[in-house]
Formats: sequence, structure tokens, C-alpha cells
Amino acid sequence: MLKTIVVAGARPNFMKVAPIVRAMRRRAHEFSSLLVHTGQHYDAQMSDAFWRDLKLPEPDIYLGVGSGTHAEQTAAIMVRFEPVVVRERPDWVIVVGDVNSTLACALVCAKLCVRVAHVEAGLRSHDRTMPEEINRLLTDQIADLLLTPSPDADENLRREGIAPEKIRFVGNVMIDSLLDNLERAASSDIRQRLGLRDYAVATLHRPSNVDDPPTLARLLAAFDEIGRRVPVVFPVHPRTNARLAEFGLNAAFDVNRVRVIPPLGYLDFLHLLSGARLVLTDSGGIQEETTALGIPCLTLRENTERPITVEMGTNKVVGTDGTRIIVEALRALEARRHVARSLPPLWDGRAAERILDALLEASKITP
Ligand code: UD1
Repeated sequence: MLKTIVVAGARPNFMKVAPIVRAMRRRAHEFSSLLVHTGQHYDAQMSDAFWRDLKLPEPDIYLGVGSGTHAEQTAAIMVRFEPVVVRERPDWVIVVGDVNSTLACALVCAKLCVRVAHVEAGLRSHDRTMPEEINRLLTDQIADLLLTPSPDADENLRREGIAPEKIRFVGNVMIDSLLDNLERAASSDIRQRLGLRDYAVATLHRPSNVDDPPTLARLLAAFDEIGRRVPVVFPVHPRTNARLAEFGLNAAFDVNRVRVIPPLGYLDFLHLLSGARLVLTDSGGIQEETTALGIPCLTLRENTERPITVEMGTNKVVGTDGTRIIVEALRALEARRHVARSLPPLWDGRAAERILDALLEASKITP
């Protein structure tokens, strides 16, 4: 019996831990698991709605760290997580993704000589100005088991000198959640509530896009222009919402062309995505979700840590130049839905099972 702690911190973690927690509870003869929520994301829209939609069990331990600077948040997570690990002495701690909770908890374990498995290891944007890239690089250096979502991730890790026996290609666990929940999401009434037929969806939250007034203004102007063709539904992340108010940009677009709405829960968002003609985003996870759904996606960044989404033909990295975004968006809208829907290898809804198998196998090898 392996004793594990599974860590979730922020919104993009929740859909990754849900299938793992469920698989561990199903295989209770092999795993006992504690679920820790660091509280990096803590409010009803960013956390509770997801927890509920994903039917996650109540966390066994809630660290309640909340927001802060990177140093404050990372440090607070470490200080509160350390006694949990000392007390529980798990065989493995499982961290997912690339948020501050991922690195903070991995670092605590490395110092206490408790084994860490990193789910979604090996993704690289090669852009060290992104806080997530730092979290990814450092977590992968200290993790004992690196569970990768795509073959490019394995290559990145090998290039960085990670021992091949620590690397396991298990597939994309976020797609386990997506496939699991598509049917339930279909009963969401979000499209009726918003009166939508043909529409695009936009999301923005990267500091490089939303913390710089000219960049944010340029992106909004592009959405406004695209909105002349189809309404652009824009669920606004709390960080972005704060910047819109701070920079006086709330009136920078026509409200019929750019439909600003609060952040949505998992099922409503999945349903909204699955009916979209086009998605414009700077998120990592949404690049993958649109690939799985066969929806054209324009990534409003200069790079992506998820090149497989580009290889599959659904995603295009277009940067933040307004004219380029508009041209690419209109082109994608004209093409209607031509994107072929073939999934990358091992994006098959069974990644969580492979993660558990890899943990068992690695436990036999490493002391
Ligand atoms: C974090 C992650 C990012 C992830 C994103 C998804 C890091 C370094 N960044 O960025 O990788 O893509 O989450 O959302 O870990 N806030 C709320 N309610 C909440 C949480 C935050 O209102 O539940 C507010 C905070 O007060 C802050 C802003 O949102 O003003 C940003 O939150 P923060 O957690 O610092 O970073 P994100 O930008 O969300």
C-alpha cells in the first residue's frame, strides 16, 4: 500500500488532480491518498465551482495561503506544507502542472527526502520571463518521477540531463477530465443564458498580456474588431478584471461585440468551448482542450510549451500584434470548422491509471 499526498493549488490544477484522486480511491487496496488544497486559488469562482463540477472530495487538508507576491505565496505554501509532510510521511507526493504550489510543495519534499512525482513534467516554453517556466524547470530538476503528457516533453527532459529511468510518458491527464465530463457539460445552459449561436471565446490572464496597458488595449481592440463578425465571449480572470479597472479599459470595446462575463465553472466553460467557432487565449490548458475538441485556437503569446497542439493543426501561435490576430481570426472563421479531430498519443482518458501504475513501478525500483 502506497501512502500518497496529492497537491492542488490553483484553477488549472483541479482538472488534473480529479482523475488521479478518483483512480486512487478506486484502487484503495494499492493506494491511500490525502488531498491537499494549498488555497492558492480560494474564491467561489476560481476554486469552489471547479471543486463541485469535478466532484472532487473535500480536501483532507486546506492550507489557506491565498494571494501574494511570488515570494510570499511560494514561501507561505512551503511553511504550511512542511509540517504536513513531516507528520504524514507519505511514500509519494504528487504535484501537477506549473503553478507556485507545484514548485513550493516539490521543494519541501526534496529537502525532507520524500519522493515527488511531477504530473505534466517536461513542458517548456523556453521563455524564462514566465513564472510558470521557472516552476516547471525547477520542479523537474528535483522530482523523482517525471510523468509526461507528450513525447516532446520527454525530449526536453533528456536534453536537460534528467535520467531516462525517471521519465514516464503517461499521456495527458487533463484530457481524462475532459472526456469524463463532456456528457455532463452538454447539459449546461450557458449558451442559452448568453443567447449564443455563432461565437468566439477569449481568455487572457498572463502577466505579459494583462499587466501592460498598451498590450492589453491592443488585444481588446482586436477582440472588438473580431466581434464585428461573431460576438467574442470573454470570461474575465480576476487578475485581468483588476487590470481592466486600473487601466480604465472597461469602455475600450463595444459590449455587444465583446461580451465580458465572470469566470465560469468547469462544465459551463467546457460547454462554451465545445460550441465555439474560434478560441483566442493565452492559457496553456485551453490550447490542449481545443485540440481535444477539434476547435481552432489562436494562442496570443510568442511561444507555447505545448507544441503538440500546433502539430495537431488546431492551434496557431500568433503573438500579440493586433493586425495579425485579426487576420488569423477572420481566416479561421472563414474556414468554418475544418480542423481534423485526431488526438495526440495517449490523450485517451486513461492517463490517471498509467500515473498510478508508474508510481507502483517506481516504488519497486527506488528505495
Ligand atoms: C496562477 C498561476 C498560473 C495559472 C493561473 C490560472 C502561478 C505562478 N500562476 O496565476 O500559472 O495559469 O493561476 O488562473 O502559480 N485571485 C482571486 N481569486 C482567487 C485567486 C486569485 O481573486 O481565487 C486574484 C488574486 O488576488 C490576484 C489575481 O487573482 O489579484 C491573480 O492570482 P494569482 O494566483 O496570483 O495568479 P494567477 O494570475 O491566477
